[in-house]
This record gives sequence, C-alpha cells and structure tokens, in this order.
Amino acid sequence: MLKIAVMVSGGGTNLQAILDGIRDGKITNTEVVRVISNSRKAYALERAARAGIPAVCVTRKEYPSPEAFDDALLAALQESGADLVVLAGCLVVIGEKIVKAYPNRIINIHPALIPSFCGTGYYGLNVHEEVLKRGVKITGATVHFVDGGTDTGPILLQKAVEVKQQDTPKELQLRVMREAEWVILPQAIDLIANGRVSVEDGKTVIR
Ligand code: GRF
Repeated sequence: MLKIAVMVSGGGTNLQAILDGIRDGKITNTEVVRVISNSRKAYALERAARAGIPAVCVTRKEYPSPEAFDDALLAALQESGADLVVLAGCLVVIGEKIVKAYPNRIINIHPALIPSFCGTGYYGLNVHEEVLKRGVKITGATVHFVDGGTDTGPILLQKAVEVKQQDTPKELQLRVMREAEWVILPQAIDLIANGRVSVEDGKTVIR
C-alpha cells in the first residue's frame, strides 16, 4: 500500500481528485495518510476533514527562518510515514533537505506543458495569463518528479488542452484543471502505487 502525504495551499481541487480517485477505484493500492497545508485558510483542509484525513498546518510566518520552516515540513512528512509526497496546488518551494530526503519520491502538478510556461514566477492564474498573452493554441498540465530546481525534474505525465479563442485566464485555468490536472495527477499516483514507474538517466520510464 503506497502511503502518500498531500501538500496543499489553496482550494484543494487536486486533493479532491485524488480522494475521489481512491474512492472510485481509479487509484489503487494507495492511502492518503496526511494533508499538509502552509495556509490555515486553505479550503483543502475542509476537504481533508470531510474525508477524515489527519491534516497539519506548517506556516512559514510561524517560523524564525526558512531553514526552521523546512525542518518543520520535513518533520511533518517523516512523522506521517509517507512513501510519496504529492504537491497538489502547493505554492511552497520545497527545500533541498526535503528533496534529498525523498529522492524521486516527490511529484508536482504544474498547470502547463513543461518546459513551456514554467519556472520561477509561473504558478496559478499567472501561468494561464502568460499562455493567453503568447497566443499558443495548446496548453495543458504536467506531473513531474521534484528535484532541486523549479519545475525541472523528470516528467511523468502530460495532457494537452485546447486554448479557445475567447478564453479568459480563469476559464482556461478551470479547463486545464478539469481536463488535465484532475486526470493525470490521479493517473500518476496509480502508476507509482503499482510499481510501474522508474527514473532512468533523468527520464521516467513507464511500464
Ligand atoms: C491550480 O491551478 C493548480 O494547477 C495549481 O494551483 C491551483 C489550485 O490548485 N498548482 P488546487 O485547487 O488547490 O488543487
């Protein structure tokens, strides 16, 4: 049984997709053992409570330094017993100490087709604003392993989504979430939970 800790910051729709996936049997061999939020106001905490999943808040402003915050995050993860860390709408930059403690065992959902529209400053609605500004016709979402960089780790799954002529950033964000994020994040977890993923020479191999 794969034990996962899900790190959240906001609405938690990706967390909900995971919970629904487990309920509906689309994600097998998996248990969510902890939800960790960096915001006490995150609606994702409501979703965790409704599902009876233990949740903790580790909030940067409650710690004297970035190092103390990272140590608290690492402690919360290790205490949970999680095998895999899932960043689901998580806006926290994961520190090196945590990446080293969970080599190729942290995955992130990014709301664009990496290597497009990613890296520092590309998160949430801003990604979709840049997509519309550039005028690309296809965007999508990416699940990737987290390494020491920002959105630079081995890519696991991607799904394309059409950009429509009159899209607003909000409309595009919702379509990307609905048609891509909420589909490939559960799929990625199920693949990992069933031993079908490895990372070879910096690229993922799915069997
Ligand atoms: C989504 O745009 C997701 O791609 C990004 O954070 C936003 C909110 O995600 N990572 P969620 O509803 O909190 O899962």
